[in-house]
Amino acid sequence: MRRIYLNLLRTLSLHWLGKTGVVLTTSSFFTFLILEILSFAGVYTNAYMGLITYLLFPTIFFIGLIFIPLGWLKSLKITGKTSSELIFKQFDKTEAQPKLFGSKVFLLLLGLTAINVVFMLGASTRTLHFMESAEFCGTACHDVMSPEYIAYKDSPHANIQCVECHVGDGVGALIETKMSGARMMFKAITNTYSKPIPTPVHNLRPAKATCEKCHWPEKKYNTRLKQIVHYKNDENNTPLYTTLNLKIDGKNSGIHWHINPENKIKFVSKNNDRDIMIWVDQLQDDGSWTRYENKKEDINPEFDYHIREMDCVDCHNRVAHIFESPEKSIEKLLSNGKISSTLPFIKKEAVDAITGFTHDNSLGFTQIENQLQSYYNENHPNFSEQELDQAITGIQKVYSKNIHSQMNVNWNTYPNHLGHQETDGCFRCHNNNMINKNGEHIRSDCTMCHSILAGNSEKPFQYLYPVKENNPEKDMHEFLRDEFISSF
Ligand code: HEC
Ligand code: HEC
Ligand code: HEC
Ligand code: HEC
Ligand code: HEC
Repeated sequence: MRRIYLNLLRTLSLHWLGKTGVVLTTSSFFTFLILEILSFAGVYTNAYMGLITYLLFPTIFFIGLIFIPLGWLKSLKITGKTSSELIFKQFDKTEAQPKLFGSKVFLLLLGLTAINVVFMLGASTRTLHFMESAEFCGTACHDVMSPEYIAYKDSPHANIQCVECHVGDGVGALIETKMSGARMMFKAITNTYSKPIPTPVHNLRPAKATCEKCHWPEKKYNTRLKQIVHYKNDENNTPLYTTLNLKIDGKNSGIHWHINPENKIKFVSKNNDRDIMIWVDQLQDDGSWTRYENKKEDINPEFDYHIREMDCVDCHNRVAHIFESPEKSIEKLLSNGKISSTLPFIKKEAVDAITGFTHDNSLGFTQIENQLQSYYNENHPNFSEQELDQAITGIQKVYSKNIHSQMNVNWNTYPNHLGHQETDGCFRCHNNNMINKNGEHIRSDCTMCHSILAGNSEKPFQYLYPVKENNPEKDMHEFLRDEFISSF
């Protein structure tokens, strides 16, 4: 059989096209297998190796397969013989003579074809699978996706594939994203994509097809006591507590009132960027819609407004790619002990160090280190070296997560709508300017979404303490305390 096999290869290689085909298929077949075994063994997980294994070699294999019949046709043309004449010439009679199930040559050819088909099917499944991996999406077009990829790796969704949120289920969704993926690939190769990548992502699939696969809307959510710690710019980095009791749950009231399927909101926004609302529609029990219009904005008749049905992403727009403000990221490091608050003025100095220069990834790291080292050497010579080193490492990490100069991405590029700090967030709709025809506005009283137990106070539960009679904030204090107690 081995003799027939080698002879078959020789026959297929009569023309140089056939020869190239044989070399390409055989070599890519074996390299693919070896790389696949290495990948299973965990020798590499790198996306570039994936690109080579799952895209390059199957392509070479396929091209080789096409070359072989082309080469055969050429040989027929050049020798002027028919296929069977050529075969009888190359093989001896016992091999080429047809038997009950075909000749030995034919059976071998059939076997090889079967192997090829199985290989092509297997390889293309692996290729599709690889193209859905976060490694592929996040690193194949390195510079382009790296801000989102790095932020994603440090998010609560770090173990979820990009496609779970960005593609969703269904053949339609798959084809649609493969098309837009191809467009993106083209833009990446020709360097014609916009930097930064624009947000919001208008073609993100609706939450029903993505988020709700894992977070079912009927789930009961509890209230959540949330403590936010800010730090003063003083020598002791004095902590100031803001304590909220977030009223998340909501079949009928509360923040997740919004995800009850019976409550529907639609809106259009100025420039379709979802930042400034033009009008907001709310579905009523009788099936009609109540419209709230922004009395500060006029409708532009020339503009092509897109009506959007509100879903999870209108609040949770930063579930996987969280970029934070310099203050917030430094304060987080202070509150989880990654920066020691015994370093004098570290809050102020750290924020200055990461914001005080034009951003360039290649310079940032050394600049942060130099600036802090020289500040402490000059002003607080007794500082602890170890604490400062730890602080510098933490600050550099924050820097590399948030600053991506190759994509013009920095602290402010992708603000968070959850709340009303980084953008107007909830206040985009919940404000006094959104008026319906009865003159009522969308509710926005401070304790509708959260009880307030402390606001930038040195006491974490400021409003739960007794209050002095002469305190000018006495009324508010008592109101907030009573509101919290009665909210259960
Ligand atoms: C848990 C869901 C989720 C996962 C997982 C996820 N994303 Fe996103 N992604 C989002 C949401 C939500 C947005 C912002 C949508 C908006 O505001 O319109 C977004 C936005 C983006 C954007 C646009 C720029 C921006 O930051 O707004 C890019 C690019 C992106 N994602 C790439 C990726 C890549 C690459 C991966 C995998 C490494 C990934 N995403 C994984 C939910 C996700
Ligand atoms: C494939 C499943 C999956 C999908 C799809 C998914 N999530 Fe999650 N999500 C999770 C898991 C698991 C956690 C819990 C992570 C943890 O506890 O650390 C989580 C956590 C969260 C949290 C809490 C985060 C925190 O800070 O604790 C929010 C909010 C959230 N998801 C919103 C969303 C939104 C919005 C989408 C759609 C854009 C989405 N998720 C899509 C699985 C998913
Ligand atoms: C109106 C704005 C809004 C919408 C719409 C919304 N959420 Fe939330 N969600 C919030 C807020 C605010 C929190 C509390 C955040 C915090 O704890 O800091 C929250 C918390 C969560 C949490 C964490 C709960 C916990 O106990 O820690 C999950 C998970 C979540 N949302 C999922 C979803 C999903 C899935 C959707 C869409 C079906 C959705 N949310 C729609 C505002 C919203
Ligand atoms: C696109 C507009 C829009 C956005 C953005 C929005 N809301 Fe709403 N929300 C509404 C409308 C409209 C209503 C119903 C009218 C009302 O209650 O005044 C509502 C109702 C609510 C309710 C009250 C439910 C009740 O009747 O007791 C809560 C709580 C709420 N939203 C919280 C939030 C939070 C928190 C955010 C931000 C994370 C947010 N909303 C963002 C439009 C919006
Ligand atoms: C429509 C819902 C809603 C209304 C109305 C609302 N808030 Fe909030 N607020 C939120 C949410 C959501 C957060 C963010 C919680 C988080 O960090 O996840 C927040 C955060 C805050 C914070 C913490 C800010 C920080 O990070 O230091 C303060 C303080 C605050 N709110 C005060 C107020 C005050 C005062 C009012 C009345 C003028 C008000 N809120 C009205 C939803 C609301």
